[in-house]
Amino acid sequence: MEVLGIDIGGSGMKAAPVDTAAGKLTGELYRLETPDPAMPAAVAAALAELVRHFSWKGPIGCGFPGAVRHGVVLGAANLSRAWQDVNAVELFTAAAGRAVAVANDADVAGLAEMRFGAGRAARGVTLVITLGTGIGTALFVDHVLVPNTEFGHIEIDGRDAEEIASARVRKEKSLGWKKWVRGVDRYLQRMCQDQSLDRIIIGGGVSKKHEKFLPLLTVSAEVLPARLRNEAGIIGAALYAAEARAARLGDRGRTRPPRRARRRYPS
Ligand code: BGC
Repeated sequence: MEVLGIDIGGSGMKAAPVDTAAGKLTGELYRLETPDPAMPAAVAAALAELVRHFSWKGPIGCGFPGAVRHGVVLGAANLSRAWQDVNAVELFTAAAGRAVAVANDADVAGLAEMRFGAGRAARGVTLVITLGTGIGTALFVDHVLVPNTEFGHIEIDGRDAEEIASARVRKEKSLGWKKWVRGVDRYLQRMCQDQSLDRIIIGGGVSKKHEKFLPLLTVSAEVLPARLRNEAGIIGAALYAAEARAARLGDRGRTRPPRRARRRYPS
């Protein structure tokens, strides 16, 4: 199925058509700056522009940089406080003029990595971590997602983990890899201590340079670089929409509840 995948980030909004069976982009990626301030109406207007750019008439999936429960935003630390309790599915669907499925950006990037990337053969407990403007986390037990974990905001030494280990911190403080990796290592150690992880997959833009920092980590869990890099968010958003649609159609296709086996009583 072809789905338009949209990845909303703290600095950019990217979209591309995706073949969800192959996990590949089928057209060129188009990017817009995230509006500043990133208020709901402005972001929705930018999303509509992405949809118009592709003259898109098919299904749409969107990864959003905050926890999203049944379409409603619980918070978006790196966009604006105004997002709290906004129904993103309704807002984006109205702006795009067609149904938009919305889920957390790290969760959808994780879905793509687990299906088509570094987690393909993974069994057990896997944590996909995206290091970008914020820290996104997606927890999988085998290949089943536990949504909205938000482990990027755990407290370490009295500070939010994003202040210690996000890629933004490295840029803002002009940290060298060695210095920055100390914070990342500390964060990963805490995650391994709190959760019984079999492996960690590191994604986000910084995963392009994984050879600069992964060898410096001392954490004992297996740590793998993400394979889909910058495209994971777009591919995952499309995948999420395709699966949500399939589940809906499956439900509708069923006209009556499944028949229970008739009880037999001993005569
Ligand atoms: C948000 C997460 C998001 C992550 C990456 C964090 O600040 O709380 O929901 O996944 O940033 O965008």
